[in-house]
Formats: sequence, structure tokens, C-alpha cells
Amino acid sequence: MKNILDLISQEMRRGFEEAGYDGELGRVTLSNRPDLCEYQCNGAMAGAKKYHKAPLMIANDVAEKMAGSQIFSEVAAAAPGFLNLKLSEEFLCNHLKEMAAAEKFGIKEPEKREKIILDYGGPNVAKPLHVGHLRTAVIGESLKRIARFAGHEVIGDIHLGDWGLQMGQIITELEERQPDLPYFDESFTGDYPQEAPFTISELEEIYPAASARCKEDAAYRERAMAHTFKLQNASRGHRALWEHIIRVSVEDMKKNYEKLNVEFDLWNGESTVQYLIPGMVEELKAAGFAHESDGALVVDVKEETDAKEIPPCIILKSDGAALYSTTDLATIKERMAKYHPDTMIYVTDKRQAMHFEQIFRCARKTGMVDEDTRLVHIGYGTVNGSDGKPFKTRQGGVPRLENLIGEINGEMCRKMKESGKGLTGGEAEETARIVGLAAIKYGDLSNQAAKDYVFDVDRFTSFEGDTGPYILYTIVRIKSILAKYTEQGKNPEDACLRAAQSPDEKALMLEIANFHATMDTAYRELAPNKICTYIYDLANAFNRFYHETKIITEENEEKKAGLIALLLLTRDILETCIDLLGFSAPERM
Ligand code: ARG
Repeated sequence: MKNILDLISQEMRRGFEEAGYDGELGRVTLSNRPDLCEYQCNGAMAGAKKYHKAPLMIANDVAEKMAGSQIFSEVAAAAPGFLNLKLSEEFLCNHLKEMAAAEKFGIKEPEKREKIILDYGGPNVAKPLHVGHLRTAVIGESLKRIARFAGHEVIGDIHLGDWGLQMGQIITELEERQPDLPYFDESFTGDYPQEAPFTISELEEIYPAASARCKEDAAYRERAMAHTFKLQNASRGHRALWEHIIRVSVEDMKKNYEKLNVEFDLWNGESTVQYLIPGMVEELKAAGFAHESDGALVVDVKEETDAKEIPPCIILKSDGAALYSTTDLATIKERMAKYHPDTMIYVTDKRQAMHFEQIFRCARKTGMVDEDTRLVHIGYGTVNGSDGKPFKTRQGGVPRLENLIGEINGEMCRKMKESGKGLTGGEAEETARIVGLAAIKYGDLSNQAAKDYVFDVDRFTSFEGDTGPYILYTIVRIKSILAKYTEQGKNPEDACLRAAQSPDEKALMLEIANFHATMDTAYRELAPNKICTYIYDLANAFNRFYHETKIITEENEEKKAGLIALLLLTRDILETCIDLLGFSAPERM
């Protein structure tokens, strides 16, 4: 169905045309002055020059033509030439009825269904997920849901960091600790053990130990490099050990992502595309794109119009080793061949912006992607502590994601037990988990991705203000009223919307009507924060309405049913929106 702004713009267009002006001037926007009007049109001002007329005269001409409009209850010309608009309650109600009856509230299918590969998560094997992995997971998951809701096909790929030097380091440390393992015996021809020679906690301790020792011990570093080389050059034992590392690590990651309500379609990684690299390098050389520079193999990607220097994209280091960029290029190649996506979106820390600029340019220049393939990097800001510096544990380390979630859930659980709603034991914990996730995700997503934000447990878990728990609290409040209505033997689904009878009721209905425009912007700008702003406004509008209106005690059954229908629609919109943000609401809290 049509977006409300389009519908009313169309009506204004008629007014401009009937008054003898260009219909294009009839474009309507949300009101900048909610105290004066609900929507506004500034077309008269824009037309003044063209028609050599005072804008107020044009506005008056148009307002006159709108007198009998079915859509507006008021079209008022105001100095210096604004058209202040109020909607007819009847029209608004019918619009909401249509929304309530339609699939996805009437969101249109896109003209072209795009295929999108969304690259997010990007954890490195054997390293525990930490606070730095929160944002890519949370933002990426929401973008996936938003794009799917808009009608597109999205394939989410975790793109594991599962190759390269860190693997050689882990293998070196394992050899140090358990030199007799068959993986290190080159003459071993039997079957390797099914069981990994380490647990996840051992692995998580091994990696930092190895990495630290590499920094100070040159011989150890040499060994790590040699092991990396053997792994990358098909040593059977190294490969088998590597598979253990991946399996143990991925198993643990899956548990953590599940807790975050984050799900990937593909568990590919850097290792997935290594087989493509030699051929790709040859092609780049043969086509004359890659050339030698200080012993390294590079592709120039700078352009004349660059305001700052864009260094060449390095394909091979001087020792012949492939790097992060090489793997990303090979991944683009693989994705094009296998899925032929229209768009590839990467969600990483914004400090990787240059890397993506380079590989996107390189992919385009060398024809790895089509001319119209969209390559998008969403760079997010840092999660800071209350001191404004990157979030640290009290001991000064990088906080593990698990602990962070645990901290929020602990705080939530305490609040649940204190809230006086009678939540105890298992239910309190389960509810705390649901609300805690909302606190974390909303705390993140309500910021523009590129901005840094402060991870503030007190604020995030507050039931008041612009927070996840506030939104959930509003939903739960609606659910409880609907449940009471059901207890009175009536079905909310049978209730029928009616035209607003108070300013607060109308304000709520107007908020609901903004749903389509919000979804449209959130997808177009790949900005979940637009949905947060919307549901915060919607929840506020609902709570104002709720405080002013008796619902369950309303004696007029028809009026009551109208209010219930509005509640139901509000709940459905809110729940749809939080699902797009990647969390859900409990039954009570
Ligand atoms: N593993 C990388 C890191 O920790 C992130 C991967 C992001 N995705 C990509 N295709 N480069 O920085």
C-alpha cells in the first residue's frame, strides 16, 4: 500500500494543479512544528520565484482548492507561505485499518529483489569474543533483518578469521606443550585422533600465550612462521590440527552468537578462499593490473579526484605471503562466482575504512565485480567506558562478550526480582535474559553506527528514557491490557479501529502511520537507529495516550473495541520493529 506521505502529497498535488501551479510543488513532509500542524508543505515558497508571486498568495490559492478535501481536516496558509496540514480523522483511521489488514502492514515488495551478501561477525578463531565483536554482530544482524523485511534476499556470512599467522602461533604453542602429538610427526601415516588435544578454555589461553611469546622470542616467531607455512602448504598433520582448532572454536562461538540472537547462513572464512589466490594473482599479473613495488606485488588504486592519498592495494608481501586484502579480494571473486550478488555489505570497525576502500577499488578496477555491483562498508565506532576511552574491564583487559552480557543480565535479574511483579527463580532469569539482550542491542543500535558510544549499564538497563527496557515495558503494558480484554471474554482480533476521539489518540495514530517511511529510510540508509528513534516516539505517544485514556474500564463497548484495536496495532508494530532490531519482548516484566 501507499506510504501516507505519498498519499497526502498526491492530494496536495491536486490542489496546486487546480490552482494553476506545478503539481510537483505539492510535496508534503512531516511537520517541523508539531504544535501547529501534523504535516507541512513548503511548495508555495519554492514556487514564488517561478510565478513571481508572494508565497503566501500561492499558499492561499492552494488552501482554497483544498477546502472540500477528504484527506485533510485543515489546510492553513501561514506566513511567509507555509501550508500547515492536519489529517482528517476518518482518513487516518482508514489508512490504519488498511495497514492492520495487510501483510507486513502493507510494505510494498521492492521493484527489484536484490541479492545481498552481508559480511558481519568476522571473529578470529581461538580468540574469545570480546566487546569489539558486539557491534558487528548486533548491527549486522539487524541490517539482515531490515533488508529481508524490505523484500530482499540476504545471505549472512560470518567470514571467520581462520587462516594466517595466528594459526601457526597456536600450533607452535601446542608443539611446545605436547611435542609428542602425532600431528607433528611427519612420518605418521595413520588416522589422527577424533578428539582435539585441547578444550576451548585451553585454546583461549594458548593463543594469547603464543602471541605474547612471538613478540619477544625471535626463534619462537620463526617456528610460528614455519608452522603457518606448513599449514598453508598442505601438511596433513597441520591440516588435521587446524581442523580441531576450528571445530572447538566454532562450537563455542555458536553458543555465544545464539545468546545474542545472531544467526549466520554461511560459516565461511578466510581459509575458504585460499585455493583461489594463486590463480587470482596470476590473472592480476597477466592482465597488467598488478606490478612490483619494493618487492611486493601491488595494484594501484588511487584516483585523480582523491582528496587524500589512497595507497596501493597489496596483493602479496615481499616474502610472497598473501594478506588480509588478498583474502578479501579472493572472497569477492568467490562470492561473485557462486552467488552473483547485487550488493555486498561489510560491517566492521570504521578503522578498516581504508582497507575496504582499497579492495573495493581494486575489485572494480580489475573487473572482479560488475559495474553495477554495490560494495558497501558500514564502519562502526568504538564502544567506550564511562571515561570515554575504549571499554576495559576493571583489570584493564578487553572485556569478554560473555561477561558483558552476564553483567547486564545480572543487573536485569536484580531489577526483575525487585519490580514487585512476582517474578521469581527461573522466570526472573529468563525474563532478565530477554530484557538484558534488548538493553544491550538497543543501547548499541540507537546510536548512528559510525559514532562511538558509552557502554553504560545503568542507563541501558533503565526502564525509563530511550532504552530497550522502556520499549519492552511499553509492549508488556499493552499485552497486559489485551490479556484483560480477553479475560472479559472478548477477542482483541475482532475489535475494529475507529476514528481518533482525542488529540493523544490521534497523535498515536499519526505515529503508527509513519511506519512505512521509517522502514523505507532504515533500509535505504542501512540505519537501524532510524527504527529505534521511531519506536521511541511511538512508545512515548502510546504512553501519553494510555495515561489520558481509560480503556478496560470504558463502558461504551464500541469505543472500547476501537481502543483495543489501536492497542493491538501498536503492539504489532512495536514487536515487528524490535524483531528487526534482533530482540523480543517477554510476556511480563
Ligand atoms: N577478522 C577480521 C578482524 O578481526 C574482520 C573480518 C571482516 N570481514 C572481512 N571480509 N574482512 O578484523
